[in-house]
Amino acid sequence: MIFTVAIDGPAASGKGTIGRALAHRFDFAHLDTGLLYRAVGAKVLAGGEAIAAARALRPEDLHAEGLRSAPVAQAASRVAAIPEVRAALLEFQRRIARREGGAVLDGRDIGTVICPEAEAKLFVTATPEVRAERRYLELVQSDPTCTRDAVLADVKARDARDTNRADAPLAAAEDAVVLDTSEMSVEAALEAALALVKARL
Ligand code: C5P
Repeated sequence: MIFTVAIDGPAASGKGTIGRALAHRFDFAHLDTGLLYRAVGAKVLAGGEAIAAARALRPEDLHAEGLRSAPVAQAASRVAAIPEVRAALLEFQRRIARREGGAVLDGRDIGTVICPEAEAKLFVTATPEVRAERRYLELVQSDPTCTRDAVLADVKARDARDTNRADAPLAAAEDAVVLDTSEMSVEAALEAALALVKARL
């Protein structure tokens, strides 16, 4: 069976949590596509060149240490605006999306560019303040020096860059179901996502 769940949305909207839970529930593969851009961003921070790094990316690079840090997130959103970087990462994502057995991909352009034919599309969002608070509570565990203000500024900077870039900007596909999780519990968001997928299966 070929069945793709495309989940798009801004940073810390809850799309990763929803993606992982859906993949687990339906025994689908799961790809957090942000990791691809983070892995390229990390290589650039280490002195590499973005396009060459994207072309040479290997699956094991997605397990590198430190990909979740704020500097890597910013580097990721900068390399993600380079069309050649996006082109180099396209086939890998498409192959996983259409693999036999079902797949959940989360990112910014899954329903619009990577897999416009996805059987179920979700656009998960929340206010910048709610998303920054969630990300802060995550980050402060490993970096006690991080502040709420810095995390909010980081979230807003990435939103602006991801929404305004020319190539595959962050946007809801026309046929995506929009889920605003600002005032939703994780359980309620998961339930809504689950209902959407079940209705399309
Ligand atoms: O989702 P995550 O926060 O890990 O993504 C890191 C960065 O990678 C985003 O800010 C965005 O610029 C980029 N990205 C993208 N397209 C995707 C997934 C992530 O441009 N499908």
